[in-house]
Amino acid sequence: MRLSDCHNFHDFRRLAQKRLPGPIFNYIDGGADDEVTLRRNSAAFEACDLVPNILRGVSDVDLSVTVMGQKLDLPVYLSPTALQRLFHHQGERATAAAAEAYGTLFGVSSLGTVSMEELAKKHRNPQVYQFYFHKDRGLNRAMMEQAKRAGIQVMMLTVDSITGGNRERDLRTGFAIPFRLTLGGLLQFAIKPAWGLNYVTHEKFSLPQLDAHIDMKGDTLTIGRYFTEMLDPAMTWDDVARMAAEWGGPFCLKGVMSADDARRAADIGCAGIVLSNHGGRQLDGSRTGFDQLDEVVQAVGDRLDVMMDGGIQRGTHVLKALSLGAKAVGLGRYYLFPLAAAGQAGIERALQQMKAEIVRDMRLMGARRVADLGKGNLRWR
Ligand code: LAC
Repeated sequence: MRLSDCHNFHDFRRLAQKRLPGPIFNYIDGGADDEVTLRRNSAAFEACDLVPNILRGVSDVDLSVTVMGQKLDLPVYLSPTALQRLFHHQGERATAAAAEAYGTLFGVSSLGTVSMEELAKKHRNPQVYQFYFHKDRGLNRAMMEQAKRAGIQVMMLTVDSITGGNRERDLRTGFAIPFRLTLGGLLQFAIKPAWGLNYVTHEKFSLPQLDAHIDMKGDTLTIGRYFTEMLDPAMTWDDVARMAAEWGGPFCLKGVMSADDARRAADIGCAGIVLSNHGGRQLDGSRTGFDQLDEVVQAVGDRLDVMMDGGIQRGTHVLKALSLGAKAVGLGRYYLFPLAAAGQAGIERALQQMKAEIVRDMRLMGARRVADLGKGNLRWR
């Protein structure tokens, strides 16, 4: 199987599975507990159908949107995700470059493996810095300062990870950084020597956003431990209001679900919110972003930009979210599997397919621009 054999999300996922050691593939692929929410994220889109309009003169289709003051050529963006150089040696460099090639926004994670400064210097497209609220307030301030100095456009605080989700696939393989694998996990690395060779012959693994501030003292860090030990479960709306004011620019909360919280986000001056359950990786049994979209857009759609992520695998999924009033839609695994499969070329191929699907689907829907899509284009089953 090669890159040219990949025609959709599932193909890329299979190719990534072939290339990656099992523990890494399962870290990306997996969710919390019974993975009910993980499955529901994609299934939610099947709860409604698109009702197309005809004869609307759709030779020219404009996919551009403006979200949190940033003009994007596509209504999808690359959500911040952790540890990308573990998936492919190009890591965040591939993600940023592919996003730039398609004129869209990308996110850099606190747990990113390339520095936000390097990416901001190199690329013209807007960047969000994904931020976690640490117990160490000095660290929080230093990270914000760093992002400001780097010229990052949007600050995105993740609020659904105040403690680690229960990821049983990772428990079974022993996925942690640096690797402290179970015997089963080790064997799964041994049968992917190409990945191992690539890993040891490229730049040493690091977390530049955190390394300057946290001394891991050679400890292994599981994602669950990072969330549970370093992030501050005491965080409140007052803390976040202060942070948003300190930042000054567009501030966004990722991981909002309820209409009440969306209103509070608007009250403290957020420019945007992302309805998200963290790809089904945190609270299993959580509602999905798509299922909450209508209610939240009705509550606050005139006060801030509402986005959503989770489970997007098709252009039609994006169209359904846009029809309910999402300003843009975040992609996660949709670009991570292509990254793992083929680096920048993989992500660009996946984005090219997503763009082609959205253009085709807009035409079939009789929509010339994103604003032509509305609730009238959807019927619930
Ligand atoms: C995860 C975090 C790091 O879901 O975003 O693994």
